[in-house]
Amino acid sequence: MAERLMVAKVDDAAAHHEPVMVSEVLRFLQPGRRRKILDATIGPGGHTKAILKELPEDAIVIGLDWDDRALELAQKNLADFSQRVIFIQANFKEMADVLAEQGLGKVDGVIYDLGLSAQQLSDGKRGFSFQREGPLDMRINDTLPHTARDLVNHLSLARLAHIFKDYGEERYARRIARLIVNSRKKSPIRTTLELAQLAKKVYGPRHFRIHPATRIFQALRIAVNAELDNLKASLSALPGLLSPEARVVVISYHSLEDRMVKETFNQGARQGLYKILTPKPLGPSDEEISRNPRSRSARLRAVERVASEEN
Ligand SMILES: C[S@@+](CC[C@H](N)C(=O)[O-])C[C@H]1O[C@@H](n2cnc3c(N)ncnc32)[C@H](O)[C@@H]1O
Repeated sequence: MAERLMVAKVDDAAAHHEPVMVSEVLRFLQPGRRRKILDATIGPGGHTKAILKELPEDAIVIGLDWDDRALELAQKNLADFSQRVIFIQANFKEMADVLAEQGLGKVDGVIYDLGLSAQQLSDGKRGFSFQREGPLDMRINDTLPHTARDLVNHLSLARLAHIFKDYGEERYARRIARLIVNSRKKSPIRTTLELAQLAKKVYGPRHFRIHPATRIFQALRIAVNAELDNLKASLSALPGLLSPEARVVVISYHSLEDRMVKETFNQGARQGLYKILTPKPLGPSDEEISRNPRSRSARLRAVERVASEEN
């Protein structure tokens, strides 16, 4: 009984999402002087809640999430502020259309907190975690046509190896792809733990800083959800959606995303669209990492939209 209670407690803790780098987000966004903020990844609403506490009374947050379950959770967690949040289920790559359709005009602050929430990661049925048994799904949005299971069981060896290398920076990409292809000849790979087991086999019984399946799970998730395409499309639409002196804060969790954010912001700065507020990305404090180990890979970058007549 005691053991069961303990397990329940661990699961509850895992399912609570602690917003990352909140004081840094507030420092750069300066909500006190804003009227309309777009939270492009509202998730359980942690950042939005902190922002709402500093926003003027008549200012609003527009909260997007691609995942209907995440949006439901945001609505529940932000029930006390429901008059001041507009919840919209959408992929942030479509945010220009969404703002236009809703007649919302330009915004003066945007936050992206990329990746997934603790709730999504710890829900075994979603298939995001290599530590929880579940179907190999990994779709952020249920209407996507292909799951991770489809990719793992149907893509060619070369294509799988590319995905693991390009999106996971996996050293043994080809070896793992070969093992997958051999294994699926006998029977389809159906679950998270079956796939995690194959990655473990390639690495053998050594000790690792991270779990051997970390990179291939990241890679499959990026491929299933076209995550880099979404980010690229969204960042390139951004300048046209910002009012003068609007600020944008992006928190990313792996180098592929961070690189894309850095390059897009630098290019915007060269075109006179942005002033870079973070010449180097910021990470969480040691205190935050020890309180919330999930924050350790976070990298925050921020820019300000330059007010000018030409752009
Ligand atoms: C790390 S969580 C956000 C947590 C939130 N900032 C908080 O503090 O509570 C990231 C969220 O982004 C959402 N997301 C991922 N890709 C998206 C996309 N392309 N468009 C919109 N939302 C997306 C996920 O569904 C998830 O809910």
